[in-house]
Amino acid sequence: METNYNPAIEVSQLTKNYGELLAVDHIDFRVETGAIFGFLGPNGAGKTTTVRMLTGVIRSDEGSAQIMGHSAGSLNAKQIAGVVPEMANAYLDLSGWNNLMLMAKLYGVSKDDAHKRANELLAKVELASRKGSLVQTYSKGMKQRLLLCMALISDPQILFLDEPTSGLDVQSARFIKNLLQDINARGKTIFLTTHDMDEANQLCSRVAIINKGKIVAIDTPEKLRMAISGKHSIEISFQYKVNTKDLEEIAGVTEVRLLGDKCRLYTPDPSDLAIRLVDYSKSKQMKIVSLNILAPSLEDAFVALTEGGKP
Ligand SMILES: Nc1ncnc2c1ncn2[C@@H]1O[C@H](COP(=O)(O)OP(=O)(O)OP(=O)(O)O)[C@@H](O)[C@H]1O
Ligand SMILES: [Mg+2]
Repeated sequence: METNYNPAIEVSQLTKNYGELLAVDHIDFRVETGAIFGFLGPNGAGKTTTVRMLTGVIRSDEGSAQIMGHSAGSLNAKQIAGVVPEMANAYLDLSGWNNLMLMAKLYGVSKDDAHKRANELLAKVELASRKGSLVQTYSKGMKQRLLLCMALISDPQILFLDEPTSGLDVQSARFIKNLLQDINARGKTIFLTTHDMDEANQLCSRVAIINKGKIVAIDTPEKLRMAISGKHSIEISFQYKVNTKDLEEIAGVTEVRLLGDKCRLYTPDPSDLAIRLVDYSKSKQMKIVSLNILAPSLEDAFVALTEGGKP
């Protein structure tokens, strides 16, 4: 398999400065053809800047990026990529259909192919019945699905999506995620930026974590989780509000975090801690409303890895 290894994206020392700010700082990574690659990071980490360099919207200051062997920004690289940019918008005063036709024209897709693909795509995203309506009458979820169709109208080999589910409700987000899996199953490589650990976990075969312009980790979601396997936790809520100081003092607790009405207690030994928590609740004569033992999440990995980079 290794001998056939054929990277869809190859990035070397890619860098972007905005004045004094190093928005993207000499990053290196490869994305295998056919993969769904997740690019995770907090606000301002450099995700969008990276996508913009890869899709040729902006130039890098240093380093290189190849898309299917073509230099990022070249016409060839642009022709084989589909893009759903951050904060993208379709033309609001055109219908969904006409937006698709406009995009098809930009990519030089023949009229017959454009019609055929547009109908297929609209059916797939359940927008067929609204294709003649102006986009300004679409909901946010509908607009996002149309943007995905627009990115796919040229039948690209590789798809770049910058936070495609951000701001969508759970159902719409799930719909998009299912679509992405479907698109990937048909052989398309997907580069996806997200804040959402669950999303990365569900969709991606590999994940890079970027913080302050630097890649801090790059691996499978599973391995990133294993890397912080010490970080088991218990999420617990009690009948009454408790003093977090009390919880910090329980043996085996390494960290306490408040999450709404629940507390997350980190520990290397969750089963031992569960017993101590039952004892604690008895001693305070209050009930435990819920108690869940959690394996380390990708979010834990993310926090552990990005906090290391904080000044
Ligand atoms: N056009 C610009 N001019 C100046 N600074 C910029 C510009 N675009 C981005 N930046 C800065 O570069 C850094 C990285 O921004 P970028 O948009 O890539 O982050 P991001 O990871 O996409 O964040 P978010 O999750 O909020 O979308 C930020 O500090 C941002 O303020
Ligand atoms: Mg962004």
